[in-house]
Amino acid sequence: MNKIPTHVAVIMDGNGRWAKERGLKRSEGHREGAKTLENLILYAKKVGIKVLSVYTFSTDNFKRSQEEVDFLMNLLILYFNEKLEKVCKEEVRVVFSGRKEPLRKDVLDAMQNIMEKTKNNTKCILNVCFNYGGQEEIVDASLKIHEDLVEHKLKKEDLNRETFYHYLYQDLPPIDLLIRTGKEHRLSNFMLYQAFYAELYFVDTYFPDFDDACFDEALRYYESCNRRFGNAED
Ligand code: IPE
Ligand code: IPE
Ligand code: MG
Repeated sequence: MNKIPTHVAVIMDGNGRWAKERGLKRSEGHREGAKTLENLILYAKKVGIKVLSVYTFSTDNFKRSQEEVDFLMNLLILYFNEKLEKVCKEEVRVVFSGRKEPLRKDVLDAMQNIMEKTKNNTKCILNVCFNYGGQEEIVDASLKIHEDLVEHKLKKEDLNRETFYHYLYQDLPPIDLLIRTGKEHRLSNFMLYQAFYAELYFVDTYFPDFDDACFDEALRYYESCNRRFGNAED
């Protein structure tokens, strides 16, 4: 492939429907989705993607049953504790985006642990959006900006659309390719600021079935895009 996106973001949707179609519990879909994610990380690194952002749990997902919320929290801990070694070996640095409140201490500890263990890895960044909301991120950034203005750490004239990134949960480059699996064509409050010129790729495949071939197809779509960023064609 000639043109590889620097930052790919994935809205990993359809785990529940994947499970329902097979007569399984929703949790089985999430378990399968976690396996798919592991593969996706390794593949993204292999093809040279520098930043991979994944939507694993939205602030609005707390509306789901306590059973499902608990399952997803425990899955995160298990996932990072079990996969930790492999991820480190693969030179992937793990960072998180989202609010800490109201996450459990054991969940926060697992996050801290993986961040710490992978902090010197440089090949690829995995940005795990967990308890994440795009509007919340912009509100939280605005509050930090207000604080820095009041404390004279930031001058009003130095704030612009590039410097605004320093105030987001992670200071990452903008999204080049945004993939959503699972039939819906919406952002569901995902990385609203960073997606401003992202190429959008929607695919019907439910996330547990999203394999390397599906990812290649998304990359081919990206390769075919003519990104103008507001400029005129010459
Ligand atoms: C995405 O799959 C994973 C999370 C939101 C945690 P869903 O659980 O939303 O699956 P569907 O959309 O109900 O099929
Ligand atoms: C978005 O999916 C959140 C994640 C993939 C983690 P949802 O399933 O929560 O989104 P809606 O409710 O269909 O918009
Ligand atoms: Mg969904």
